[in-house]
Amino acid sequence: MRSNSHRWEEKYRKARAGAFADADTTLRRLGRWFAGPGRALDLACGGGANLQWLYRQGYQVTGMDASLQALKLACAQPDGRRFRLIAADLATTKLPRGHYAAVTVVHYLERALFPAIVRALQPGGRLFYKTFNKNMLRQQPGFNPDYVLEIGELQQSFAELKPCVVAEPDRDDPVNSWVVMEKPGKPAAGKDDA
Ligand SMILES: C[S@@+](CC[C@H](N)C(=O)[O-])C[C@H]1O[C@@H](n2cnc3c(N)ncnc32)[C@H](O)[C@@H]1O
Repeated sequence: MRSNSHRWEEKYRKARAGAFADADTTLRRLGRWFAGPGRALDLACGGGANLQWLYRQGYQVTGMDASLQALKLACAQPDGRRFRLIAADLATTKLPRGHYAAVTVVHYLERALFPAIVRALQPGGRLFYKTFNKNMLRQQPGFNPDYVLEIGELQQSFAELKPCVVAEPDRDDPVNSWVVMEKPGKPAAGKDDA
């Protein structure tokens, strides 16, 4: 974790202005699944482009990342002052239970966190998870195999959730897998904005 976090700090320190302007291309196509209101959590939020998109979708947003430089960039997003930003090592952080209407994770893989993500969702809450799959190892042989999914792994790992949209792997982008999944149950009325 130490050398990895150093690498991320360097990357974000050197980032050019506007490098984190655009939310993930897949997420941007999924507006009907992530339309607010309620609380949304973006794990490993990086420079905050996905937070900005979620905020404009009508959510109160929280971003977590281990990199302070990343959180600085997230804070500089157009609505960044309204984001809740938390410096956290996600390998060890606890997430509040039943708290979020949406959880998003893009290009971060910590399998030990999967059960906590399920618990953190409210009934009816939705998960968007997108990250590299093992096809990446063919395209980029030096890529760390610990950070790639098996094909179908997201669906299997989040079996407690109901699949809404599944692209494992993405037909147009075979090195990525992604899912939209929903926690069974009805959202509690009037409890969205605490
Ligand atoms: C590939 S970037 C993805 C950033 C963002 N989700 C995006 O799509 O632009 C991976 C992110 O994970 C963060 N990260 C890596 N290890 C972490 C950890 N243990 N806890 C929290 N964040 C971590 C890095 O700081 C970096 O921002």
